[in-house]
Amino acid sequence: MADICDEIKRRRTFAIISHPDAGKTTLTEKLLLFGGAIHIAGAVKSNKIKKTATSDWMEIEKQRGISVATSVMGFNYGDYKINILDTPGHQDFAEDTYRTLTAVDSVIIVVDVAKGVEQQTRKLMEVCRMRRTPVIIFVNKLDREGRDPFDILDELEAELKIAVRPLSWPINIGAKFKGVYNIFEHSLDLFTPDKQKATERVEIDRIDDPRIDAAVGEADAAKLREDLELIEGVYPEFETGSYLAGEVAPVFFGSALNTFGVKELLDCFVRIAPSPRPVAAVERLVEPSEPAFSGFVFKIHANMDPNHRSCIAFVKVCSGRFERNAPYLHVRSGKTLRFAAPTAFMAQKKNIVDEAFPGDIVGIPDNGTFKIGDTVTSGELIHYKGLPSFSPELFMYIENADPMKAKQLDKGIQQLMDEGVAQLFVHQFNGRKIIGTVGQLQFEVIQYRLLHEYGAQCRWEPMSMHKACWVESDDAAVLDAFKKRKFQFMATDREGRDVFLADSAYVLTMAQNDFPKIRFHFSSEF
Ligand code: G4P
Repeated sequence: MADICDEIKRRRTFAIISHPDAGKTTLTEKLLLFGGAIHIAGAVKSNKIKKTATSDWMEIEKQRGISVATSVMGFNYGDYKINILDTPGHQDFAEDTYRTLTAVDSVIIVVDVAKGVEQQTRKLMEVCRMRRTPVIIFVNKLDREGRDPFDILDELEAELKIAVRPLSWPINIGAKFKGVYNIFEHSLDLFTPDKQKATERVEIDRIDDPRIDAAVGEADAAKLREDLELIEGVYPEFETGSYLAGEVAPVFFGSALNTFGVKELLDCFVRIAPSPRPVAAVERLVEPSEPAFSGFVFKIHANMDPNHRSCIAFVKVCSGRFERNAPYLHVRSGKTLRFAAPTAFMAQKKNIVDEAFPGDIVGIPDNGTFKIGDTVTSGELIHYKGLPSFSPELFMYIENADPMKAKQLDKGIQQLMDEGVAQLFVHQFNGRKIIGTVGQLQFEVIQYRLLHEYGAQCRWEPMSMHKACWVESDDAAVLDAFKKRKFQFMATDREGRDVFLADSAYVLTMAQNDFPKIRFHFSSEF
């Protein structure tokens, strides 16, 4: 029997995040190639939700269906077991990505060298910062014209609000791109634009090694030495501890499409990235090496086929050994369940597994038992803290368009919210239901799924709203006064917490000024 501590030590569970088009899919695919999980480039593409498909969300759902298989990509690399958790590229599904980040131990951020830090990356980094997730940054597309690497580093620090430390350094960029100097391993990797071929490496002893001049020419070698000197002067020595604490992000440069700089990234990643770490439950901190199994549901993937309304609940194993058919406690319902057909994802194949270890993700066929955030244990009553909900960006009233199907509509809304498709608020003034989302697409998805999975019809009614924020105060009387004054703008979320519906930025600022004793939160974790 495998020793649990050894199994934990060799696991690396992470997600790759980026703004759409920065190269996440390409990088994922190249990592899988190195891990031997796939053998040809292009195999991961089917999972990509193309930005051109925004108006055609049926197509998107089809692709999401396909993406069950690639939701988790497990493979072995040397002694390591790597689990890459896929995140949807489309920004309307950003909430899915946030939740996936609760199940990873670290993150690789891909940034396009020409575009720098883009909006989506900024938002995702906020979540990483909140959870102190260690991040490595891969600056991609060095084969194209782009920005000065020092400028990129400055921008990464300023925009992502994290200290950076380059661990590789490019020699030129675009048409003149010659390769990268690997600061982590002290070697020089020469660039050959070839999608399948690995890097050509020049072993060097010191930075003044004449082999550098021979390889890239004297002028570029001189510039490289100058840059490296500057780096050593400006950036503190890389130290794994500050990376693991989420304080410093090591930065690599390369070109995913040309498989350049990817192996260097991977080799450094497996060495420094954390293995599964202790996870905070409400009651206590749970060590992965504890013998008793525990885990939580971070994602529910619905089956789009209306004849099979089954889902897959994705459970992240947090502690102990997960075993097939063992009796486990579903903490929220208090029921004991046995999972006869848990699946795991190895080398792009979904197989039934007999056991899994901390850091692994198991897929459990489900018919509505699970909610996002549910905890499953060997028997202990603990509750893992899920990811907070963020204040949605778009809001609509949801109305019943078929009076005969009111029950179906209620059930459908409830289940879709359990799945985490969107957020539901109830207006305190008029009792109407409000759905909040991060993208327009979700409204279409909800309407379609209500009809096809629950036989219910809904109608959307636009409402003008700037933000919904959670409000609280240490002074109950103040909170009461606020709720009375703003009674037309108060709602409750699914847990019954008070939410203030501000219809403009001005109204929100005014409310904040008028009620200094009230705390306004833009995420539900406070
Ligand atoms: P995403 O998942 O982050 O959205 O990005 P994806 O990997 O799909 O990459 C977006 C585009 O950028 C793709 O081109 C991809 O080929 C290209 N790309 C990725 N890495 C590099 C790189 O290192 N250098 C260059 N020059 N391009 C890169 P596309 O035309 O949108 O897609 P495709 O037709 O090539 O599939």
